[in-house]
Amino acid sequence: MKNIVVLVSGGGTNLQALIDAQDSGIIQGGRITCVIASKPGVFALERAAKAGIPSRVIPRKEYPDSLSYSKAILEALNEEKADLVVLAGFMIILDECVTKAYAYKIINVHPALIPSFCGEGFYGLKVHEAALEYGVKVSGATIHFVNEKADAGAIILQGTVNVEMDDTPEILQRRIMENVEWKLLPKAVSLFCQDKIDIVDGKAYVRE
Ligand code: GAR
Repeated sequence: MKNIVVLVSGGGTNLQALIDAQDSGIIQGGRITCVIASKPGVFALERAAKAGIPSRVIPRKEYPDSLSYSKAILEALNEEKADLVVLAGFMIILDECVTKAYAYKIINVHPALIPSFCGEGFYGLKVHEAALEYGVKVSGATIHFVNEKADAGAIILQGTVNVEMDDTPEILQRRIMENVEWKLLPKAVSLFCQDKIDIVDGKAYVRE
C-alpha cells in the first residue's frame, strides 16, 4: 500500500473527492495517510478530521521565503514516508528541493487545459476569469506531475467541459470541478498507486 500525502490550502473539495473515492474503493493500491495544510483553519482540515485522517498545519506565513517553507514541507513528507504527494488545491509553488526529491511522485490538479491559463499567477478563480476573458469555448482540468516549472510537468489526464455564454468564473469553476477534477484526480491517484503510469522521454503514458 502506498502512503498518499495530500497538500491543501482551502476548501478541499478535491480532498473530499479523494476521501470519497477511497471509501468507495476507487483508489486501489494506496491510502491517504496524512493531510498537510498551508494555512490553519481551512475547511479541508475539517474534512480530514471527519474522515479520521491525521493532519498537520505548516503555515506559509511562518516562513520567510519559499525555500525555507519548502524545506519544512520536505521534512514532513519524509517523516510521513510519502510514496505519493497530491497537491489538491495547494496554492504554493514548491521549491526544487521538494520537486527533485519527489520527481514523478507529486501530482497536481490544475483547473485549465495546460498549456493554456497556467503558470505563476494562475490559480483558483483567476484561471477561470482568464479563460472567460479570452473567450475560449472549451475549458477543463489537467492532472499532471509536478516538476521545477509551475504547471509544466508531464500531463497524466485531461478532461474538458463546454464554456457557456453566460458563465461566470464561479459557474465555470464548479462545472470543471464536478465534471473533471473530482473524477480525474482520484483516477490518476489510483493509476499511480497501481504503477500504471509510465514515463517515456519525460511524458506520462497511462496503461489501463
Ligand atoms: C481547484 O479548482 C483546483 O483545481 C485549483 O483550486 C481549486 C481548489 O479547490 N487549484 C489551483 O488553481 C492550483 N494551481 P478545492 O480546495 O476545493 O479542492
